[in-house]
Amino acid sequence: MKILVTGGTGYIGSHTVVELLKDGYEVEILDNLANSKASVVDVIEELTGIKPKFHQVDLLDKEATKKVMQEGGFDAVIHFAGLKAVAESVEQPLRYYENNIIGTLNLLAAMKDAGVKRLVFSSSATVYGDPGKNAYTEDLPTGQNIASPYGKTKYMIEEILKDEAVADPEFEVMLLRYFNPIGAHESGKLGEDPNGRPNNLMPIIMKVAKGEYPELSVYGNDYPTKDGTCVRDYIHVVDLAKGHLAALKNMKPGVKIYNLGSGKGTSVLEMIAAFEKASGEKLPYKIAERRAGDLPEFYAVPTKALEELGWKTELTIEDAMNDTIKYLNNF
Ligand SMILES: NC(=O)c1ccc[n+]([C@@H]2O[C@H](COP(=O)([O-])OP(=O)(O)OC[C@H]3O[C@@H](n4cnc5c(N)ncnc54)[C@H](O)[C@@H]3O)[C@@H](O)[C@H]2O)c1
Repeated sequence: MKILVTGGTGYIGSHTVVELLKDGYEVEILDNLANSKASVVDVIEELTGIKPKFHQVDLLDKEATKKVMQEGGFDAVIHFAGLKAVAESVEQPLRYYENNIIGTLNLLAAMKDAGVKRLVFSSSATVYGDPGKNAYTEDLPTGQNIASPYGKTKYMIEEILKDEAVADPEFEVMLLRYFNPIGAHESGKLGEDPNGRPNNLMPIIMKVAKGEYPELSVYGNDYPTKDGTCVRDYIHVVDLAKGHLAALKNMKPGVKIYNLGSGKGTSVLEMIAAFEKASGEKLPYKIAERRAGDLPEFYAVPTKALEELGWKTELTIEDAMNDTIKYLNNF
């Protein structure tokens, strides 16, 4: 099978390209390098022995996107490309709606033109909004009280894809709702290297460890959780990458929806302790005010992915910390 991976030089995309190539898929990458570097393609070659064809194309460029799709002869598309910084999306909602939604519409138009009927979409647990419970199953309602324009783009794209699947009964769509991806490739050569100011825990921990930030702010320690700090479901990025292969192997006409998470909740303080244990160094932190929009606790119920895709996480938080430290030591 030949796969187009949009956003394939990004964090999750690059790890997925490695797993696809290792499994014998033919891959091409489309990315505008808004949040990644072209050199990632060389690292992919170093890790797999195969250099995927790279198209530096913006999905907002409808004609260029169509050309890639027409010439590629793809069997499926995995669509990672998008802007993802939650706080930035609150400051620049129009940019997020334009990039994520128009970009996806252009991709869908190009797929339609070229007769490509299979799409795996990077969605997010954020589409559940604030569902009033901590354990998220795929049948919970979505779209209510989503805290950011970023999250709303994911919800809106899910709805667009559901509508298209009604209109075209041959369209095969997988909506994969990721929980919190962390970690790096075990070689330490691929990892998360965001441009700009991150607002996810792990990239901030990495910046503190590198000395770029003096300390980590823990936003709130009086939540109703095991130690008062927020609890999330962290998933190793290589497990997440493998979830995409499981999805590709189980595609059928219509829309299928899966949570990709570990099913376990880990608090911010537990994450700090795990990083300190793996690195052997203290991570300076302070307790700060709660952040608007943060839910106290949520985690995936990942049983549907296990039962229907035969996929579950295999790597631990400790693995993720060790791999992150290898990556940090390389850069
Ligand atoms: N990392 C997370 O915590 C998380 C959680 C849930 C969902 N997701 C989603 O997974 C996907 C991948 O996330 P990531 O963490 O790898 O992010 P990333 O920023 O590392 O990768 C996204 C890639 O898309 C590219 N891109 C953005 N806009 C583009 C456009 N208009 N045209 C072409 N390329 C474009 C960027 O340059 C980048 O390489 C995103 O859609 C993200 O929203 C991420």
